[in-house]
Amino acid sequence: MTQSIGIDLLSFYIPQYYLDLGVLAERNNIDVNKFHRGIGQEQMAIPPHDEDIVTLAANAAYPIVEQYGRDNIDTVLFATETGIDQSKAAAIYVHKLLDLPANCRAVELKQACYSATAAIQMALGYIARHPGKKVLVIASDISRYDLDSPAEATQGCGAVAMLIAENPRMIALDLATGTHTEDVMDFWRPNYRKTALVDGKFSTQMYLRALEHAWQDYQDNGGHAYSDFTHYCYHLPFSKMGIKAHQHLARINEQEVQESDTDAGMIYNRVIGNSYTASLYLSLISLLDNRDDLAGQPVALFSYGSGCVAEFFSGVVSDDYLEHRFRTRHQRLISEREALDYDTYLEYWHHPDPTDGSSVTNPTCNRGTFRLAGIDGHKRQYTRCC
Ligand code: CAA
Repeated sequence: MTQSIGIDLLSFYIPQYYLDLGVLAERNNIDVNKFHRGIGQEQMAIPPHDEDIVTLAANAAYPIVEQYGRDNIDTVLFATETGIDQSKAAAIYVHKLLDLPANCRAVELKQACYSATAAIQMALGYIARHPGKKVLVIASDISRYDLDSPAEATQGCGAVAMLIAENPRMIALDLATGTHTEDVMDFWRPNYRKTALVDGKFSTQMYLRALEHAWQDYQDNGGHAYSDFTHYCYHLPFSKMGIKAHQHLARINEQEVQESDTDAGMIYNRVIGNSYTASLYLSLISLLDNRDDLAGQPVALFSYGSGCVAEFFSGVVSDDYLEHRFRTRHQRLISEREALDYDTYLEYWHHPDPTDGSSVTNPTCNRGTFRLAGIDGHKRQYTRCC
């Protein structure tokens, strides 16, 4: 019998605050339909002073370890393009906050929005060699573009934590995958910048081109046919990108587009915005939380990281996935948020980390279990709130 490995559990976390794109539209004198219909976004998650990729990540993973335990988790892979340190892995802070054992390794991975997919593929191979072990993969990012730029409306943030294990309770991942790597400058962030540089229109073209190549490679490697899937999840920098991607894939395969192929996978992303590495997996959670009829169904997944690396892969939803969702928690995280006014959004956006070693104590804004209490002597200080 073939070994079944995949995503055993998955949980996301977002901050308590969001900016409604209506506020941005009014401030910049833009027709709000450009955001709602043109790019398919309504709101974007905004981190307060005491939230960063580490607190987002630890808060995303906490329900998994609290409810299901820490046994056999011997690796943490932290995927991000919002790194807080050039040397030390953000995974080490999370390892400590989650109280994982010292004989559990912790590493950070980077390749724009793609690296969580690389982490999953590595974890699948690792578990095939070490059956019974579990790998905690966490994707955590804060998407930040220049104010008053066309990309400003495609910000957001969030983290998704996934336990990769044998006999997964959520989704078993197939062996066949298709990849595409190409050196392009569509989106990047040099070390000295807080915000990404992007060639917006070119990036959307590259996304579609990479999809086409990755799909072809997936087919060459024995993947499912287009018509085998009833649901597709895409990397969603904004939800309209996923709609365009799906139209493109349907066209290549000479098929009609069904809205139901993608709509459940876009519900959460529309009100959270771009969470870079976490975005595809947020879409997967959105699908699993919003459909109760997926048991045994094959789901297609497309991961895109600018620069670029893309991967098309797939999985089959487990029979008892309904029992292991964190749906109530996820829906409360979204519904119990506070809307920011434009000035508070700007205040959060500008909040600087000191670069001279001086001390900053952050006000308590974060509703999660873990917060960034401050920075002192170039050292970030994380605390547990409750
Ligand atoms: N009502 C309805 N629709 C409207 C409208 C209105 N009043 N006004 C404009 N629109 C439509 C436009 O027709 C357009 O639709 P199409 O794309 O179907 O033609 C859409 O709204 C967007 O309008 P513009 O093309 O004028 O948008 P823009 O130039 O202001 O910027 C963007 C759009 C390029 C996506 C920009 O937001 C951006 O650069 N975002 C960041 C880059 C990005 O997300 N790229 C995605 C691929 S790269 C990737 O996936 C990695 C990643 O995570 C970054």
